[in-house]
Amino acid sequence: MRHSFVWSALRWATPSFLWLLLSVSAISAGPDFNREVRPVLSNRCFKCHGPDEENQEAGLRLDHREAALAELDSGMTAIVPGDLTASELVARITSNDPDLVMPPPHTKVSLTAAEKQVLIDWVAAGADYQPHWAFIKPVLPELPAATGQHPIDRFVDARLTEEGLARCNEADKATLCRRVFLDLIGLPPSPAELDAFLADQSPDAYERMVEQLLASPRYGERWARRWLDLARYADTNGYEKDRPRTIWPYRDWVIRALNADMPFDQFTIRQIAGDMLPEATARLSSATLRWLIGLAPPGPPGWA
Ligand code: HEC
Repeated sequence: MRHSFVWSALRWATPSFLWLLLSVSAISAGPDFNREVRPVLSNRCFKCHGPDEENQEAGLRLDHREAALAELDSGMTAIVPGDLTASELVARITSNDPDLVMPPPHTKVSLTAAEKQVLIDWVAAGADYQPHWAFIKPVLPELPAATGQHPIDRFVDARLTEEGLARCNEADKATLCRRVFLDLIGLPPSPAELDAFLADQSPDAYERMVEQLLASPRYGERWARRWLDLARYADTNGYEKDRPRTIWPYRDWVIRALNADMPFDQFTIRQIAGDMLPEATARLSSATLRWLIGLAPPGPPGWA
């Protein structure tokens, strides 16, 4: 599974280029709800047509499909999937009449032409809503027809072709070694490690280097940093006194979890509600509290 972090694209691309891959969207009819539609609705409409009951205007909610498709008190329907003329939402965002146009002119917020088009295309394609991306099960996308030794290369090549770009030359062995080290453990190779890789002429030299780094304890340290940043981990409590605090057991727990390849659902459950797990003992009573006060959340059975 950890292999997914390392692909042969490293042979070709600079690491920052890999982010391009993340923007390869699934092919679907109409704009992607989470990526394109929700941001527009959320930034431009939810203030008055969102979950906040006190500020709901015209009894219209656009954050739920069922509500957005329901007939309104005015007799209009905001969204009729696939029917642009019957959808009041479309009439309102395209109107030139200041009494009708949405968002209302007094808000000094207006939709850009591109934002209007996203909403129109979305209604035309059936106005599908999606849950938060974290709750959508990932599906294996179809491999693009492009050439490439590794499946990831094929995605990269397909996107390069789309952008009218060509691959750069394959990196030399020393550059490749440095990239893989920095990517997986966050440190450059030592001169000895580099020499060993350069001297290794076997066909699976690259794969073995990757395996070795994945098995290194440094791997967990490198990737735990990302999570700990998000969890706002710090060794001191900040503010003007900036006193040290004993929170490192939590840090070590995260490192250990990554090195043990703990599945992501277990990883999050144990941090947020570890105390609710059947194996939670009195000592491990509250993962959340332990997290907050700097003790490690409970691990899987058999862990301390
Ligand atoms: C500042 C508050 C505000 C914002 C932001 C806003 N609206 Fe409205 N909206 C209203 C009010 C007030 C009404 C009722 C008056 C009217 O019908 O013009 C309304 C009515 C509507 C109606 C007609 C409802 C009916 O009963 O027929 C639609 C459709 C609509 N808004 C869509 C949108 C969309 C789409 C957005 C975002 C692009 C948006 N609104 C942003 C305040 C807002």
